[in-house]
Amino acid sequence: MCGIVAACFKNGDVVPTLVEGLRCLEYRGYDSAGLAVLAPGLPVRKAKGRVEDLAQLIEQNPLPDSSVGIAHTRWATHGEPSQVNSHPHRAGSVVLVHNGILENFESLKESFVEEGREFVSQTDSEVWAALLDHEIGLVRKDGPLDPMGVMRALNRSMARARGSYGLAILVEELPGLVFFARNESPLVLGLSPDGNYVASDVQAVLARTHDFIYLLEGQCGWIDAESFHVFDRDLGEVQPEVEHLDWDAESVGKSGYEHFMLKEIEEQGIVLAQTLSSTTSSKDRILPDFRVSDDTLRSFDRIVIVACGTALHAGRLGRYILEEATGIPVDVDFASEFRYRNPLLGERDLVLAISQSGETADTLGAVKVAREKGATAVAICNVRGSSLCRLVADTILTQCGPEIGVASTKAFTAQVLAIHLLAMRVGMARRQMGEEELLRRLQLLRSSRTAIETLLSHQVRSHIAEVAKKYAHKSVYFFLGRGADYPIALEGALKLKEISYLHAEGYPAGEMKHGPLALVSEDMVVVALAGEGPVYDKVLGNMQEVKTRGAKLVVLTNTDKREAIELADDVVLIPRTDPLVAPLLHVIPLQYLAYYVALERGCEIDKPRNLAKSVTVE
Ligand code: G6P
Repeated sequence: MCGIVAACFKNGDVVPTLVEGLRCLEYRGYDSAGLAVLAPGLPVRKAKGRVEDLAQLIEQNPLPDSSVGIAHTRWATHGEPSQVNSHPHRAGSVVLVHNGILENFESLKESFVEEGREFVSQTDSEVWAALLDHEIGLVRKDGPLDPMGVMRALNRSMARARGSYGLAILVEELPGLVFFARNESPLVLGLSPDGNYVASDVQAVLARTHDFIYLLEGQCGWIDAESFHVFDRDLGEVQPEVEHLDWDAESVGKSGYEHFMLKEIEEQGIVLAQTLSSTTSSKDRILPDFRVSDDTLRSFDRIVIVACGTALHAGRLGRYILEEATGIPVDVDFASEFRYRNPLLGERDLVLAISQSGETADTLGAVKVAREKGATAVAICNVRGSSLCRLVADTILTQCGPEIGVASTKAFTAQVLAIHLLAMRVGMARRQMGEEELLRRLQLLRSSRTAIETLLSHQVRSHIAEVAKKYAHKSVYFFLGRGADYPIALEGALKLKEISYLHAEGYPAGEMKHGPLALVSEDMVVVALAGEGPVYDKVLGNMQEVKTRGAKLVVLTNTDKREAIELADDVVLIPRTDPLVAPLLHVIPLQYLAYYVALERGCEIDKPRNLAKSVTVE
């Protein structure tokens, strides 16, 4: 959840680059930030609040020039957000930044306190620093400390530490080096002619390099300005692959938008086109590089989708898409529930994990359980080289580019599209779908870009902004949908609660009578998805139920039938399309609605309170 960036330069001061890196990582955590450089006394600056507060502090109280440093932006787990709990943490000659949770920190801390060590913070991370300093102390008894000595100490510390960690470390007597280690928390090395980097993700240093090494579980090592050394759990040196990433450095900027969220909503047309072109061949072969064979795809009796947050909603919609196209029953579960409920699984199950980041702890945990039980696991993911991609038999990579706004938008569209592609591929393999139908679907998906661009037009956006203004003071929102629009209702409610802090719930409209209707009052806004189709009349009935109880009714519809329009206080018209792609369109006005309600309420849109983009701890 926290963000780490560290660098060793050949020349020049590292501090401005580290601050810039922290700004790019701020979506991972933003309650405090800190930075340390390799200079006599290992000077540290830390501030409660945003990276901007740290930048100001450093301006007022500059750090000595140094070409080596480590930095951190925090999302508090152990210990409230405060200056003292911010990273870097120091113990003896070690200063480190940590992303993750040291689960056995209490027992370790107790033993260190008994030895006479003092702790100043409430964090588990300070105990990590103490642990490493303690082990380095033991190594020093064998002679002067060298980098391999730190590796031995780190290795012993890793054996004693339980939990997840990405670490970047400075050791005072070893100039020019940053040490690192990872376990269940992401960490990459960035390589450039000017120097090398350690970071939680590529965004942090994308303006500096496009060449990365994605570290694996249990690896540790060090960088200097010219080289890197990576070791496995047995301290054998490994030669990791360097991957070139063609993401545009501009994509981690706002490109003139006020917020990342707005920029990312408006990228959805391009994302659709990019994901489609990268996953189909010129001869309309679907997922030509997918490594799971057609024979294997034919062998499954069930598909189980696991994910969290928005990705889970993509999965809930995916159930309709996959069942219809493949004839295989689909279950969908919260990754956090699935992993602990001892699921009944075997080799005839295909487990599909969906995740934008590929680092969500619960989704990774669910995939591990699936694999242990003999199921085949595949993924839909936006980050090549992420932990999830490394765990599964193969990944369908969405082509979103970096998504920075904490509230996920464009990733949802790309995930749904990827599910369509998987559904077509499995449908074809099982002869559930013919060539003609495949081409029809592909054509529909391609042409849906036009409808998406219509929804992203200034006209639609400003209309939704007006609606948002009208209702931003209301305190409760219900989102109602049926069939494939039900997951869209869930996603609309999630978007609103994430960034505007209003109470919002998504319901299958037919459930209203079984409880939620009791909550409907004049203080409520009901957003109903009333698309044309077999349940249109049913949704109309549900709309009447809430309207007669005084709720304000905002209707999203693609039909010009009078009844829905007459019942509504406000209407958002959606371009009419095939039901197959309609949900992809319906989500866009709901993303805008959440955005404009939050804007109207003065909320901090890209960094909502208490949330983080990448939830790498349970
Ligand atoms: C966090 C984010 C959500 C995201 C969820 C799953 O809660 O704030 O926007 O949907 O994690 O993330 P993933 O990276 O696995 O898609």
